[in-house]
Amino acid sequence: MEITLRREEPADYFQTENLTREAFWDVYQPGCDEHLIVHQIRSVPEFVPELAFIALVQGKLSGHIMFTKAYVLTDKGKKEELLCLGPVSVLPSLQKQGIGAKLIRHSLQEAASLGYRGVLLFGDPAYYSRFGFVNAAYYSITTADGQNFDAFMALELRDQGLEGIRGRYLENPVFQVDPKELEAFEKLFPPKEKHKREGQFR
Ligand SMILES: CC(C)(COP(=O)(O)OP(=O)(O)OC[C@H]1O[C@@H](n2cnc3c(N)ncnc32)[C@H](O)[C@@H]1OP(=O)(O)O)[C@@H](O)C(=O)NCCC(=O)NCCS
Repeated sequence: MEITLRREEPADYFQTENLTREAFWDVYQPGCDEHLIVHQIRSVPEFVPELAFIALVQGKLSGHIMFTKAYVLTDKGKKEELLCLGPVSVLPSLQKQGIGAKLIRHSLQEAASLGYRGVLLFGDPAYYSRFGFVNAAYYSITTADGQNFDAFMALELRDQGLEGIRGRYLENPVFQVDPKELEAFEKLFPPKEKHKREGQFR
């Protein structure tokens, strides 16, 4: 299977939102809100279009990744700029064939070459540890309210990239979704039934 990657362009936006909806649908909750998060991210200044990529398989849109600038307020009161990875999505019928890994590895390399120091994310450690992500506690970075948990992870993009960045991650409100806005946004997409899956935790 040949997977090609290219930078995402504005003309891809609606299709990548639909892809995100397909990938996240019924995974973490009945339905999903990640496609609206993707949409919202594009209109904030923290969005990094240079690091938004799509994967194509036989010319068909199959995967997507994006990043936002993320800030850590350090113990010394300084605001340090990192990146936040996600959402990342692969079409369900093409998952587990390396598309996600290719998107992640490529974009992390690009992020390093753009000079970013490190990346934070909320995700499954079983997946992201293979790219070198570790619990953010390892670097003494906590959530805004001082928490650490397995899903909150960090990666250095260069040697000692996170050196001296101890503090609190200031999560961007762009990751919050207003249920009313979601309801209106959903109307732009093909109708889809919601189901509760076993093991869903929210
Ligand atoms: C997560 C996702 C982007 C991975 O893309 P992918 O192309 O399927 O991943 P890859 O083919 O590179 O890697 C597949 C491997 O990752 C594992 N994996 C995939 N998603 C995982 C998850 N959420 N937790 C743990 N492992 C996961 C697979 O079991 C497989 O393991 P193996 O290599 O040991 O067989 C894709 O599964 C997806 O879109 N999922 C739904 C949306 C989502 O959860 N996004 C990430 C939110 S943090």
